[in-house]
Amino acid sequence: MLLRDYILSTAAKFNEADLSYGHGTSSPLDEAVYLIFSTLGIDFDFDFELSDRVLLIGELERLDARIEQRLSDRKPVAYIVGEAWFCGHAFQVDERVLIPRSPIAELISNRFQPILEFPPETILDLCCGSGCLGIACALEFSEARVDLSDVSADCLEIAAENIRRHDLLGRTQCVKSDLFASLTGTKYDLIVSNPPYVSLAEIQTLPAEYQHEPKLALLSEEDGLGIPLEILSRAGSYLNPGGLLILEVGLGAEALCQRVPEVPFLWMEFAGGGDGVLAIRAGELLRYREYFI
Ligand SMILES: C[S@@+](CC[C@H](N)C(=O)[O-])C[C@H]1O[C@@H](n2cnc3c(N)ncnc32)[C@H](O)[C@@H]1O
Repeated sequence: MLLRDYILSTAAKFNEADLSYGHGTSSPLDEAVYLIFSTLGIDFDFDFELSDRVLLIGELERLDARIEQRLSDRKPVAYIVGEAWFCGHAFQVDERVLIPRSPIAELISNRFQPILEFPPETILDLCCGSGCLGIACALEFSEARVDLSDVSADCLEIAAENIRRHDLLGRTQCVKSDLFASLTGTKYDLIVSNPPYVSLAEIQTLPAEYQHEPKLALLSEEDGLGIPLEILSRAGSYLNPGGLLILEVGLGAEALCQRVPEVPFLWMEFAGGGDGVLAIRAGELLRYREYFI
């Protein structure tokens, strides 16, 4: 069978199965290409429509099995192929970590301009999961030292693997910490965080694909605001003067503004889509600290 026919028939199957997207792609065709190219080790800029590449029997067997997993188990492609793309870089992932997809990627690619006033020398990726945010920052700011922290030892194993994969061992390290608890004494120029911010009620309404992700990565008490508020109440003490917190709160943005209407959050806008990400400087975090408690 020709690769191009196989891709088109897979896309048609995905379309009929009414899968949910949002873990790296947004259409049945892109999802089919992601799964098939990753499985066969083909570069994503390869133009399959112009190719007469034939699939070998062994390749077909591997692909059929993986497509079946996508269709019957509703497993996201990233978990099936063990790899996700973020900020143009490949990250190892499995079901112990959230699949990278934060819109913060766009801010990193733009080097946080115009809100970041100086290149950060020290960066914390709080609630790092696979380490995608912190590692992408380390690759963008080649002089910065970066800490990746998470409460889950499982996540940190994968984050450490991704540090090695991107050759960042000298200036990037993992720290096991329940939020800021084990980060005492350290201050940063930039904290980036995509913490859990989904309420239990919302998790239960998410499509089957999202149920493969660890609950620890999604669930936050107080209608999703519990962990974001705790980060806001403490981050000021972990930032250098002039430092910046970038925090994703997703759908919790409205509830957060209602809860603390006095706080002048800067809400980020994204050309590539996405919202629910705020920026706030160290001075404001300290000034409004009591409001978050
Ligand atoms: C939404 S995931 C984000 C992962 C990664 N930053 C990303 O954008 O793909 C949230 C992460 O927070 C971690 N986490 C949950 N509770 C935590 C806590 N109390 N302290 C530190 N990390 C926590 C989870 O293990 C998970 O890896």
